[in-house]
Amino acid sequence: MKRSEIKAVLETGKAGDPVTVAGWIKSVRESKSVGFIHLNDGSTFDSIQILVPEGFAGRERILKQITGASLAVTGTLIPSQGKGQALELEPSSIEVLGECDPSSPVQKAGTSFEFLRGVAHMRPRTNTFGAVFRVRAEMSFAVHEFFRNRGFVMCHSPILTTSDCEGAGAMFQVSTLDPEKPPRGADGKIDFSRDFFGEKCGLTVSGQLEAEILAMSLSKVYTFGPTFRAELSTTPRHASEFWMIEPEAAFADLKDDMSLAEDFVKHLIAHAFKNCARDLQFFDERVEKGLRAKLEAVASAEFGVIDYTEAIAILEKSGRKWDHPISWGKDLQTEHERYLTEEYAKKPVFVINYPRSFKPFYMYCNDDRKTVACMDLLVPRVGELIGGSQREHRLDKLLERMKETGIDPVANSWYADLRRYGTVPHAGFGLGFERLLMYVTGIENIRDVQLCPRVPGNAKF
Ligand code: 4AD
Ligand code: MG
Repeated sequence: MKRSEIKAVLETGKAGDPVTVAGWIKSVRESKSVGFIHLNDGSTFDSIQILVPEGFAGRERILKQITGASLAVTGTLIPSQGKGQALELEPSSIEVLGECDPSSPVQKAGTSFEFLRGVAHMRPRTNTFGAVFRVRAEMSFAVHEFFRNRGFVMCHSPILTTSDCEGAGAMFQVSTLDPEKPPRGADGKIDFSRDFFGEKCGLTVSGQLEAEILAMSLSKVYTFGPTFRAELSTTPRHASEFWMIEPEAAFADLKDDMSLAEDFVKHLIAHAFKNCARDLQFFDERVEKGLRAKLEAVASAEFGVIDYTEAIAILEKSGRKWDHPISWGKDLQTEHERYLTEEYAKKPVFVINYPRSFKPFYMYCNDDRKTVACMDLLVPRVGELIGGSQREHRLDKLLERMKETGIDPVANSWYADLRRYGTVPHAGFGLGFERLLMYVTGIENIRDVQLCPRVPGNAKF
């Protein structure tokens, strides 16, 4: 079908231009015998206004259509008499492509996000979700643009893997064994050597370890792909399937890593301002008041840096009653993270050098032997946006850490090989793409920035 996108028509159309547009009705109303239809095709937030004057062929059927019905309209652009738009469309023909049954679940404005999650197949028709998915696509482009401009090589790390990068045992298992009658060894345990891959395999929790392979020859690489975590967390910040961006740079230490992370976040925000202005305006007005001012402040602020040990002292001195009591050696919980970024620093803040006791095996061990060279970037409202570290590139120290954390040195010998054959200091991080989207749009629940969210108890659609 030859048609113009409504975005192009609204942005560059001139009075007198002949156009054909197609889309879904946002609203229909009649005033003083003129019918007004707002039609949207998702190319931009705004809709085009179509006039249906008295006597127009098929007028009665056209004005009986409701929100959600689809139309193709051919006509001429004319200056608008009304407020809210410079141009509107005077039609010569209107074709109803698909009527919308009144039972449509997104008929009314103002339905709750929670209700809309149950009808995720229809919610992109709403203003909010249309805007979310346009911003998501733009941000995705900005990710590639940032790394490409800096000479990072994109790599596709595998989805199916035998490595549990974070060592948290949160992998979804992938198997073709008969769940009713799996083969068993002499010890009675399931014999995975007879499974599809000849060993236990799962969905990746992180592309990092495989990205390190390529960083050890191409120097600067990044992955951007789906990751999976079988954790039973149902917080508004956790999803079982989410996308992660993971750069990995050779010849880099923790400082370089933090500097890259800060530039990256700032680039993404600047890109949103430049390319998603209309959608950000909507989020600012309707989802989080003051959103744009907040993001602008982030783009110009220098991110804070707090040592973990210092963070514990700050939390202990805060006078707060914590749901999870905190002291040196314990991991920070969301309440602590939010205090540090929202109330203490009042801006994005890196917390660095956490105790090695609860961090994964691959992190570089500091000289104090108690902490590792890692960082979490905490941002207001969202909490942890990025987690990263300098990697342990010293073979002996790595093997020691593998032993300490129960990582099989034989199965993971390939990872140690990267240290055996020309090791170099290197560092990287992972940014949770959905958390970034929550931050940029003001949306509070991770389920509302994913097309079809996967969380415990729900893989519908
Ligand atoms: O801190 P994480 O677990 O770090 C890693 O996976 C490292 N291998 C990254 C690296 O160094 N290459 O996860 C990184 C980020 C978190 O900061 C968070 O933004 C996001 O991924 N994340 C989640 N997002 C949504 N749902 C979940 N369940 C998430 N778990 C982590
Ligand atoms: Mg983390």
